[in-house]
Amino acid sequence: VTAAPGTERADCERFDRADPLASRRAQFLVPDGVVYLDGNSLGALAVGVAERVHDVVHRQWGHDLIRSWNTNGWWNLPTVVGDKIGRLVGAAPGEVVACDSTSVNLYKLAVAAQRLRPDRHIVLTDKVNFPTDLYILDEAARSHGAAVRRVAPADVCERIDRDVAVVALTHVDYRTGEVYDLAAVTAAAHAQGALALWDLSHSAGALAVDLGGAGADLAVGCGYKYLNGGPGAPAYVYVAQRWQDALAQPLTGWLGHADPFAMSPEFRPAVGVRRALTGTPAVLSLAALDAALDTFEGLDMAAVRAKSVALTELFIELVDERLPGVFTMVSPRTAKRRGSQVSLGHPDAYAIVQALIARGVIGDYRAPDVARFGFAPLYLRHVDVWDAVDHLVAVMAGEEWRRAEHQVRATVT
Ligand SMILES: Cc1ncc(COP(=O)(O)O)c(C=O)c1O
Repeated sequence: VTAAPGTERADCERFDRADPLASRRAQFLVPDGVVYLDGNSLGALAVGVAERVHDVVHRQWGHDLIRSWNTNGWWNLPTVVGDKIGRLVGAAPGEVVACDSTSVNLYKLAVAAQRLRPDRHIVLTDKVNFPTDLYILDEAARSHGAAVRRVAPADVCERIDRDVAVVALTHVDYRTGEVYDLAAVTAAAHAQGALALWDLSHSAGALAVDLGGAGADLAVGCGYKYLNGGPGAPAYVYVAQRWQDALAQPLTGWLGHADPFAMSPEFRPAVGVRRALTGTPAVLSLAALDAALDTFEGLDMAAVRAKSVALTELFIELVDERLPGVFTMVSPRTAKRRGSQVSLGHPDAYAIVQALIARGVIGDYRAPDVARFGFAPLYLRHVDVWDAVDHLVAVMAGEEWRRAEHQVRATVT
């Protein structure tokens, strides 16, 4: 479905009727009166998640107690959930494990990658990477006696040389929504003998990622955005099969041991992706993420991506048409280069987002001047996009964002 100029709300209703993903919305508990455009930051609550967590708490923990590690599948949750995520990002079974946070996992893999290229002393990333990625990569390089080369996104491929151990990038830029060509950058890294390590936080669950097809080496990503695992959900680690035997990650806790209950005083890594684990899994959070991932059951990620493109195109077209010249378009206009978000630049972006939230349209703000809107293809409708822009028009026309209460900065923006 493509929106043409002059699109009306009735057209959006028609797009929704033709939407092959339309029925997925019923699998989510989106509150009435809310247009949720922040699924790129905290995904919505899926039907069945609360029931699953209730069961894990009351029956498994409350009654079965510690027996649950064996009898209720707690021990294998990291790989069971990992394989479900793997299906969404083009990984083979046994290549993904769910654990820890994205920050921690990035540290593990950034150090491990350098150990796979011991003669090289550069970690290459871009200047606009997410702050935690920049901080973690700095520290991972320092711990290895290496340096970080931060380059402009457009220069990444040409700045990869034979000093580079690993190219570590976020696939979709959190602020602009710009997408790297994952296969092309991976190939450029490999051409210089470097490894490619991707942060898929803003891609998994919204874009058609093909780690295997691209020959990517390593990846991490977040469980609470488009994967809908809930606040602070476990993240994940992808290690291409060919690197698993050689992977030496630095946080060698007992869960990554070949035989944790041998209680050996010496570390011996587990076979396979489990060696990326460190400590005891967060079972309650993993159970929530596991249940949430069932909403992707049977979905073709190409169809998910197609809907994501349709929604962002519609939003851009409506903003262009109804609010000409009001915002700068921070996100790429070319659909292929844009993730599942649209970022609008405005000096008063923070207050505008607050005024929209007061109307039930939830987006977020990223410093210094970006109003960011995420489009989760599983539960957003075309009419939601229409309604969001309608509210935005009203906020701007009535200068609602000038109200004092919308100027107050909260801790989380
Ligand atoms: C690209 C990227 N990496 C990492 C993170 C967060 O990492 P963590 O879950 O460790 O806080 C985010 C959060 O928004 C992100 O956008």
